[in-house]
Amino acid sequence: MIAALAAKPEKLVVGVMSGTSADGVDAALVRLRGSGEGLSWRLLRHETLHYSVKVRDLILRCSEPGSGDTASLCRLNVLLGELFARAVAHVAERAGLDPQSIDLIGSHGQTVQNLPAPVTITGITVRSSLQIGEPAVIAERTGITTVANFRARDLAAGGQGSPLVSYVDFLLFHNRSRGRLVINIGGVASVTAIPANTPRDRVLGFDTGPGNMVIDGLVSHMTGGREAFDHGGRYGRKGKVADELLARLLDHPYLLTPPPKACGREEFGRPFLESILKENSALPPHDLIATATRFTAESIAFACRRHIMPHNVYEEAIVSGGGARNVYMMEQLRNAIPELSIKESDEYGLPAAAKEAVAFALLANEAIHGAPNNLPSVTGASRPVVLGTIVFGRAPQ
Ligand SMILES: Nc1ncnc2c1ncn2[C@@H]1O[C@H](COP(=O)(O)OP(=O)(O)O)[C@@H](O)[C@H]1O
Ligand SMILES: [Mg+2]
Repeated sequence: MIAALAAKPEKLVVGVMSGTSADGVDAALVRLRGSGEGLSWRLLRHETLHYSVKVRDLILRCSEPGSGDTASLCRLNVLLGELFARAVAHVAERAGLDPQSIDLIGSHGQTVQNLPAPVTITGITVRSSLQIGEPAVIAERTGITTVANFRARDLAAGGQGSPLVSYVDFLLFHNRSRGRLVINIGGVASVTAIPANTPRDRVLGFDTGPGNMVIDGLVSHMTGGREAFDHGGRYGRKGKVADELLARLLDHPYLLTPPPKACGREEFGRPFLESILKENSALPPHDLIATATRFTAESIAFACRRHIMPHNVYEEAIVSGGGARNVYMMEQLRNAIPELSIKESDEYGLPAAAKEAVAFALLANEAIHGAPNNLPSVTGASRPVVLGTIVFGRAPQ
């Protein structure tokens, strides 16, 4: 069944992504031909299904260190599987396609814990990360073969399990003459560095620190939960950056840690937010948001300057993720790295909000071809491996 699927000259694949922002599920429908460096792709449709406040709260409760319980997690795994299946049906419907014509789904899942640093328990080394949104439910509801659980194999091979999108960034954006940085600003921010005319094993990539996570938390606090993010960056723009707080935030040990590295709510979630709020109660909320926005931009710039730009020449940066819509953040980023031409991925035919969902469609396609789809130079894995657990869809006729 998988061999027959891989052999199809053209496939319709849906990528499903729900990131650390827990804002909703993105589903991207793409038409793919081939795989690996011979791949050609076209985005047919992208849809976001926003989570209800109830679902978002459940996700956040299960994701914040020490706040979830196993029964809630167990149920949320299935609930998200159902919602992901609906997102697939929705994007197919909006594209005017019968869902039966879709060949494959790639689902990243919702990260609830990311613990890639090795710990030793009874003499056994454990690196772990948990993405939920049960693929068996997705496959059963849609009848479509589903690839999920991408990070696990990379972790098992000694890697960080992320960022996985760097492999796709390489496929989509490598260029003979231009060195490119591909920056994604979701809940967490990440960068992929692709020197001009480089083979895949020379690509670097890592999480630079928070993306929108701290800003979202401050906006939610300021508005009593009525708003979840700083629309267009308008609150940040009204504020004044608090230099002393900014300097303290930039002192965070994560920023200095050399790659490979990945982060999440464990580093920049609720406890981090609460310490900012507690220690800066005298600062107006808009100033806090302005400072968090500058911190995000500066931490991305710092990562590029310290860990990437000394090693190669880069001309441009291509930005994706919901943070690309925060105009104030984009201004701060342009100010922080003026030597790079900073563009949004939309200019390359890839809407900023669709990028990561497209990536998981491509990673699923690689998986059914049995093609290694991690980048050890990025994740730190000991070798290239095929990422993804495959759950069969409808039985072959
Ligand atoms: N119009 C906008 N203005 C400012 N920020 C936005 C806008 N749209 C989305 N965002 C930010 O992007 C986040 C979602 O980005 P996304 O790429 O989906 O991240 P994740 O992968 O973590 O879910 C939102 O939580 C919000 O902070
Ligand atoms: Mg999202």
